[in-house]
Amino acid sequence: MNTVQVSTLSRSYEVRIGSGILPSLGNAVCTSTEAKKCMVVSGENVFPHYGDTVMRSLREAGLEAENIIFPSGETTKCLRYYGQLLEAMAEKKLTRSDCVIALGGGVTGDLAGFATATYQRGIAFIQVPTTLLAAVDSSVGGKTAINLPQGKNQVGAFHQPSLVLCDTDTLSTLPEREFLAGMAEVIKTAVLFDADLFDDLQHRAIDLAGIIESCVMWKAAIVKEDEFDTGRRRLLNLGHTFGHAVESCSHYEMLHGEAVAVGLSMICRAAVSFRMLDAIACDAVISLLQEYGLPTQCAYSAQQLYDAMLLDKKFSHGKLHLIVPRSIDWCEDIAVTPDEARIWLERGLSGTACGQTSK
Ligand code: NAD
Ligand code: GLY
Repeated sequence: MNTVQVSTLSRSYEVRIGSGILPSLGNAVCTSTEAKKCMVVSGENVFPHYGDTVMRSLREAGLEAENIIFPSGETTKCLRYYGQLLEAMAEKKLTRSDCVIALGGGVTGDLAGFATATYQRGIAFIQVPTTLLAAVDSSVGGKTAINLPQGKNQVGAFHQPSLVLCDTDTLSTLPEREFLAGMAEVIKTAVLFDADLFDDLQHRAIDLAGIIESCVMWKAAIVKEDEFDTGRRRLLNLGHTFGHAVESCSHYEMLHGEAVAVGLSMICRAAVSFRMLDAIACDAVISLLQEYGLPTQCAYSAQQLYDAMLLDKKFSHGKLHLIVPRSIDWCEDIAVTPDEARIWLERGLSGTACGQTSK
């Protein structure tokens, strides 16, 4: 097992990554929280695989353990299930010293995380990511949120987990499409910070635990520097500004990671057209995304995407922060007006600079 330490202003915690570590969850809850009672929040596709192991481990460690299972999919990150979860926590009389365990992907983690951020003004939670995306990104760093009909992640809070326990064996049951969607966040991390990782991915020199550890180390470093997303953490939005618009236009039929892959391709194409990125690097990113079976174009118009982007939460003081790749492992944060953002969008869609062969 490998451990990455995450240190933030509000909390320090471990991310444990390894094979076969799920049965250690109960003892880990006892050492990282003060809980006597815990509630496992999970999804209908996940709990049947890992629920027994988790519940047994918690009970063997002397904890009183409950569970609640939600339907799968992005639409579960909503006010209705948020309310149901809060009521279940109250029903089971969870106190401020108890704890919630999010067993699942980013949807479960974001929903459970937000409920624990607000229930009794904040109780402990533990992330047990079971998707690649959650392992490399969403389980670490304390961003929690639910969606509104008006837009994604419109209601949320920063609430750091007390522990992240990532058993890589759980990824064995993940559908391939979901695994590949997680690769989009891995490729994003490589483009942001890590040319060696980018090279390894190109050569398929892949050790899953190693990839997860690298991504978590990069994320831990950024979150330590800027827990509340006012500066350097914005870099992690690479591919997300356009990606969220794509995801919303698809009415969430496109997976989050797939939309990020399209968003990353678009920002690379636009950066080439502004002469901020060379076409070879742009092609390398787009080819890598395609090698992992990810989409790099979408069918939506600039107007559709622009309208969706205006609903996203990213504009502040009339400006939007675009994360622009300058080379592999160097990206820049630039502030643009809505009109400028629209031009970036159009250039990202045009595909004239590179990536013509993309899917
Ligand atoms: P997800 O949580 O929807 O999981 C994907 C699918 O796989 C679901 O159907 C789920 O039931 C199933 N599944 C999960 N683990 C499984 C397993 N081990 N075996 C079989 N099936 C399994 O999707 P995701 O990609 O993990 O997360 C996407 C969400 O994460 C989005 O809502 C996105 O906004 C959010 N996100 C949050 C952050 C953050 O920092 N909080 C960062 C990135 C993404
Ligand atoms: N996934 C973006 C962030 O954690 O800031």
